[in-house]
Amino acid sequence: MKRILVTGGCGFIGANFVRRVLDLRPDWSIINLDALTYAGNYGNVRDLEGDRHRFVHGDIGDEELLADIFSEEGIAGVVHFAAESHVDRSILGPEAFVETNVTGTFRLLQASLESWREGKLDPDFRFLHVSTDEVYGSLGPEGLFTETTRYDPSSPYSASKAAADHFARAYHRTYGLSTIITNCSNNYGPYQFPEKLIPLMIFNIINERPLPVYGDGGNVRDWLFVEDHCDALLTVLENGRPGETYNIGGGAEKKNIEIVHIICDLMDERLDRPHGTSRKLITFVADRPGHDLRYAIDASKIEGELGWRPRHGFEDGIARTIDWYLDNMSWVEKITSGEYKRWMKENYGNRGTG
Ligand code: NAD
Ligand code: TYD
Repeated sequence: MKRILVTGGCGFIGANFVRRVLDLRPDWSIINLDALTYAGNYGNVRDLEGDRHRFVHGDIGDEELLADIFSEEGIAGVVHFAAESHVDRSILGPEAFVETNVTGTFRLLQASLESWREGKLDPDFRFLHVSTDEVYGSLGPEGLFTETTRYDPSSPYSASKAAADHFARAYHRTYGLSTIITNCSNNYGPYQFPEKLIPLMIFNIINERPLPVYGDGGNVRDWLFVEDHCDALLTVLENGRPGETYNIGGGAEKKNIEIVHIICDLMDERLDRPHGTSRKLITFVADRPGHDLRYAIDASKIEGELGWRPRHGFEDGIARTIDWYLDNMSWVEKITSGEYKRWMKENYGNRGTG
């Protein structure tokens, strides 16, 4: 059994990754370390609990807990998702972003290094640091981010991720720890917390609430279906070269307003509402401060070196996403009503189940 530590495996991408790995790699097992912040939901993985998936409730900044986890022999990899991930929250309260994304990542790197030095890790150990294209700052109307684009983060979120990337790279150059960094574009798909653009629009349309579009809706993101991101991460974990960085993107650039229109029209169809009903909910609101104009990824390195390509176009991915949310409305209601939070506290308190 190949054992990996996944951090943040109860969040959006982490939960999709845990599910994908357990599906595709029958001889792998996962230790899932997650603090269950507002964005983490144990319900996303509860059905997976067993020999191949062990949930540990805790913080990546907790050195004692990390020492305990790394006292196990033979951990073959760390896939590090745990983070504060929402730009708007980082503008309102940056400190948690420094604590988790910078200090937490540092503690995880340090615990991995100590375990490696003690000879406890699998000889093929890899530390995969999951990062974002937002570290590169904003593009103008032309051009793409490559792995050598200069770091130029705009928000406290992207600044904290940039700092974490630098630590991950430094641990390879200075100590020889086998770190690899991936910088990915915007993800969408099942289990995404409805604070991010796509699930928020779906959720508000269902509830006939206004759809807040920042500025003129002209900002561009490069959208990737989460399952494709998970496959890219698995590819990098297995075949990527330590010390390298790989950009991951969907090649699906769209303006925010185009995304909102697509969702509105699909939702009208699914909900049997007359065409144009949901578009009437669109409300242009004040722009986000420091709002990056455009992100777009050149993914030729991972495609050429490792043979990964996205399998889902935007039309396919967004239809699957909408169907998932409509089929899982109880999930959305639970995580947003606080019912889940109460349940978790009553059942687990602060106790880890590891
Ligand atoms: P998310 O907010 O949905 O999930 C984050 C998870 O981390 C949650 O389960 C939360 O409980 C956990 N967590 C937070 N702080 C923790 C701590 N101190 N200790 C342990 N667990 C903690 O985030 P996501 O969208 O799934 O993003 C996952 C990773 O991927 C992040 O590192 C993010 O920067 C990166 N990323 C996200 C996107 C995107 O579009 N969502 C794109 C590129 C990269
Ligand atoms: P978001 O999903 O927060 O991801 P990120 O900021 O990491 O790219 O936002 C995606 C885009 O959508 C971004 O340009 C901001 C915009 N946006 C809105 O217009 N309205 C919203 O309510 C949200 C959450 C985002």
